[in-house]
Amino acid sequence: MPERWSPDSWRKKPIVQVPDYPEPQALADVEKQLATFPPLVFAGEARNLKKALARVAKGEAFLLQGGDCAESFAEHGANNIRDFFRVFLQMAVVLTYAGASPVVKVGRIAGQFAKPRSSPLEKRDGKELPSYRGDIINDIDFTEESRRPDPRRQLAAYRQSAATLNLLRAFAKGGYASVENVHQWMLQSVSGSPQSKAYADLADRVSGALEFMRACGLNFAVDSALGTTDFYTSHEALLLGYEQAMTRIDSTTGDWYATSGHMLWIGDRTRQPDHAHIEYARGVKNPLGLKCGPSLKADDLLRLIDILNPDNEPGRLTLIGRFGAEKVGEHLPAFIRAIKREGREVIWSCDPMHGNTITSATGYKTRPFDLILKEVRSFFEIHAAEGTYAGGVHLEMTGQNVTECTGGARAITDADLNDRYHTVCDPRLNAEQAIDMAFLLADLLKKERSGAVRAMPAVAGL
Ligand code: PEP
Ligand code: CO
Repeated sequence: MPERWSPDSWRKKPIVQVPDYPEPQALADVEKQLATFPPLVFAGEARNLKKALARVAKGEAFLLQGGDCAESFAEHGANNIRDFFRVFLQMAVVLTYAGASPVVKVGRIAGQFAKPRSSPLEKRDGKELPSYRGDIINDIDFTEESRRPDPRRQLAAYRQSAATLNLLRAFAKGGYASVENVHQWMLQSVSGSPQSKAYADLADRVSGALEFMRACGLNFAVDSALGTTDFYTSHEALLLGYEQAMTRIDSTTGDWYATSGHMLWIGDRTRQPDHAHIEYARGVKNPLGLKCGPSLKADDLLRLIDILNPDNEPGRLTLIGRFGAEKVGEHLPAFIRAIKREGREVIWSCDPMHGNTITSATGYKTRPFDLILKEVRSFFEIHAAEGTYAGGVHLEMTGQNVTECTGGARAITDADLNDRYHTVCDPRLNAEQAIDMAFLLADLLKKERSGAVRAMPAVAGL
């Protein structure tokens, strides 16, 4: 029998990646206040996402998850949110139309603030300070004052998440996300972009389909499937005091839900089965993600699945592989076989970002676009060979024209990184690279779903 879970049972477990708050009383006061604030999302919405993800598990839909590595207070604004949302929806249209698959849309947004770090301290010019851990914890400026964890930042992160979500809900349901609008944006972004040919062809085909639907008498303003979209939020469940304060009982079912976002994931550095982060995650009913890196062993993965999804509920658990283009072939097949052997229901997603980070010759943390694409291609090939579904992708991306990842249609070089390197954490795909990625995905997806690249299913019991 597992021990009794409660929203604070994680506090009795070992924990890593926590900030050292110098004022415990101020922290307790903030957590108490947060616990009285309204939920950001509702349990029924999280259940709807779980249902949509259950379709992904069956190969009937594709999961597109993406957004900033870390949201920042400084970059909070309507234009940024709008530009991200537009690019994200354009990717979804490319996938739906060219990939012929419904798309489950989940942003890394409206709560993606806390960051795990490889070192608790950062050294610059002989000076050592606590590492930046995301705007919900401390400030990125390299001064002692800025780097001191301040619990009041959690209140600011909550309010920013609420404002972001408010705009996203208006965009998704207020007509802005109608298929006609997305089509207009496609036509606009075609001009001047290097991938314009493929994009123009697709935009033409979408135009034809829309005309056909109009001629059939469909009214986009009133048909909700065409005039609105379902958009969900997600973030890493890292700062557990904040998560606990936002954990509420759903009055309909009596179950506990995280109300800080629809889907939460556990990072690659905090997935120890007997530690605090897994303890917290197991008790909330939201859909969960689990980052799976090269250090994870198949046995540990099965143990984690036992803890996180004991009832084998479809849509509950998304395994987000982040191995790196050179390592995915070595690790993923063994995981797939172990999970098939044990008959576990999971969604297979690919994060091609976190295993492909390098330092450029000019000293920037970057990711070559070719390596990112390579990991995605291998992910599809491996699933085809194993007879399983490549269910989704998990991307770090922005709607802005930044220069953070090298390569892509505009061939961003190491020297170009300096131009518009704005991320407060990891390098993101820019708008064009994100659309390019969508075309590649559409191609792979179409082949997979039509069975063209589907290899013989692997022998049961392998
Ligand atoms: C992230 O998704 O930003 C992240 C830190 O990933 P991972 O836990 O896979 O390293
Ligand atoms: Co990141």
